[in-house]
Amino acid sequence: MQSKIIGLVARGLTLAGLLGISTSLVWAQSDADRISANLAPVGDICIAGDPCSDAPGAAPARAASAPSASTASSQTPAAAPEPAAEPAATAEPAADDFDVAATYQMRCFACHGTGAAGAPMFGNADAWGERMAKGMDAVLANAINGLGAMPPRGLCMDCTDDQLVALINYMVDGG
Ligand code: HEC
Repeated sequence: MQSKIIGLVARGLTLAGLLGISTSLVWAQSDADRISANLAPVGDICIAGDPCSDAPGAAPARAASAPSASTASSQTPAAAPEPAAEPAATAEPAADDFDVAATYQMRCFACHGTGAAGAPMFGNADAWGERMAKGMDAVLANAINGLGAMPPRGLCMDCTDDQLVALINYMVDGG
């Protein structure tokens, strides 16, 4: 009779132990060694010569506290990517900062300020009027692809299409 009771108790403890295992399986395996070490004394108490000594024991309390710790640590790195969004936000104003006069001087003046190689000169209404007669789209396409001695994009490889349009209008209008 007494052995039956012990058997029931042992079974109950084994069940608790299994619950503990299934809960603990969810989190860090690296902690498994430390936990089984912590649980060893529980197993000793449980046995009294019974096979339940093999069960890691009633660990739900420990297992429950550990995931909350790992959740907290995983939240810390999750916050890190936020600052990365800021450079993108500052990159856009840079496009608005486009200085058409300065870019013309740096990139286009060498030819369009001097008429070198037959380049239509800055502010020369006649020269530009002929070219603009075919429409901005065609003129822009020539500026992008190059035309005769005019190199592609006027060698301003970091100029956007919109910026080229601004440069062309600037040269046509003469500033
Ligand atoms: C190395 C000299 C050189 C530089 C630098 C240069 N151009 Fe030109 N560009 C030319 C020449 C030469 C032509 C005339 C080409 C032709 O009609 O054969 C020309 C023509 C053009 C035309 C007229 C295209 C057409 O359809 O007739 C545009 C627009 C133009 N350039 C834009 C620019 C812009 C914008 C820049 C600066 C970002 C620039 N160019 C820099 C030499 C240059």
